[in-house]
Amino acid sequence: MQETATERVISPARNIEGSLRLPGDKSISHRCALLGGLAEGVTRLTNFSTGADCTSSLGCVAALGAQVVRKPDGAVEISGTGGQFRPPAEPLDCGNSGSTMRMLSGLLAAQTGSFTLVGDASLSRRPMDRIRKPLDQMGARLDLTEGHAPIRIEGAALSGIDYATPIPSAQVKTAVLFAGMQARGTTIVHETVRTRDHGELALRAFGASLERSKDAVSIAGRQKLHGIEAEVPGDISSAAFFLCAAALFPGSNLIFDALGLNPTRATLLDVLTALGAHIGVLNLEEKHGELVGTVQVNAPPQGMGGTTISGALAAQLIDELPVLAAIAPYTRSGIRIRDAKELRVKESDRIALVAANLRAMGADVEEFEDGLDVPGGQTLHGATIDSGGDHRIAMAFSVAALRAEGESLIRGAEAAAISFPEFFDLLESVAER
Ligand code: S3P
Repeated sequence: MQETATERVISPARNIEGSLRLPGDKSISHRCALLGGLAEGVTRLTNFSTGADCTSSLGCVAALGAQVVRKPDGAVEISGTGGQFRPPAEPLDCGNSGSTMRMLSGLLAAQTGSFTLVGDASLSRRPMDRIRKPLDQMGARLDLTEGHAPIRIEGAALSGIDYATPIPSAQVKTAVLFAGMQARGTTIVHETVRTRDHGELALRAFGASLERSKDAVSIAGRQKLHGIEAEVPGDISSAAFFLCAAALFPGSNLIFDALGLNPTRATLLDVLTALGAHIGVLNLEEKHGELVGTVQVNAPPQGMGGTTISGALAAQLIDELPVLAAIAPYTRSGIRIRDAKELRVKESDRIALVAANLRAMGADVEEFEDGLDVPGGQTLHGATIDSGGDHRIAMAFSVAALRAEGESLIRGAEAAAISFPEFFDLLESVAER
């Protein structure tokens, strides 16, 4: 098979073995970039995410008056704007990044001046009403284009609200907290599912105080942020592709150093354990509130069992569901996913694309509005895979291709660079053939 700039050939592997240190977590990098841009003083971030999405966040804060310097060692230095963004002449380009668009909207809603946020074709299809509603209640002036980007924001003086998020979304929670931190009075966000809490931890690291109870976060308004020095932990959602790849091969052994292990992000380790994989965690440390550690994975000699993912688990695993579905045919009793309707409004309709690509590989799969049933005990063949321009689909099916019979061609493979430009090189470095 022939590769082009946008296509990758993946051959079956015999085993997965090696040791990896992954680029910084995308969610943490976004929050540090945005808060560093608004803070007073310099923020220095090592192991910042190498993904294009986080470059979009840096580009936006630079356009808003922060000074952003990328050092040759990959570190990022941001001289913040001291609490006051400067309205740019051009629209703010969020690229493919929903996190940038939604969380930055929260910051901008309380600033002075007019701002326009735009994104690529995929981002311009994604729902933005979920941030408009709470920000509107706070007194923000925010106009969408038929529920989508472009978003126009006329900065306003905001008041705190008490808000229950109707959908589990860390981006919405963070957008409201980012606005609340600048508002008059206190803002409280209630959530029924504890979504990733990097926003809360980053706010604290940058000097804001907030309080957390079991299902709510409360932040006082008119708080000031100051720059920080931090090393961003390795991205566990990027590690997910390698963890799942290793879980496929009895005899595999893969080690991750300095991996982010925030409990609101590490549910995949529990699921892989439930499927029979051996997961070891060592050297656990806390840095700026984030847990970081070394993880070792070995596949079960008898192969993986099966499981059902639904309810709160589906929300906590939302970014890992495509790769779990993609390896499900190789388990003994399959994986059932429910309550994951949000997958349909990610960078692509991930339920439809996972089902179509599994079928292209010869798998049996049943699609539901909010999930998938993927029976186990299947043999897949290599196929042409369509990433739909979605990074996680490109990577999930590269992993599925490692256990297929024959080669696969991943179309739209360049999308991996949205979160993980090193993905294909690292995959080749640990795959034994
Ligand atoms: C993210 C939250 C999730 C996730 C996305 C990153 C974040 O989105 O899918 O990749 O950094 O807060 P939602 O908040 O829309 O569920």
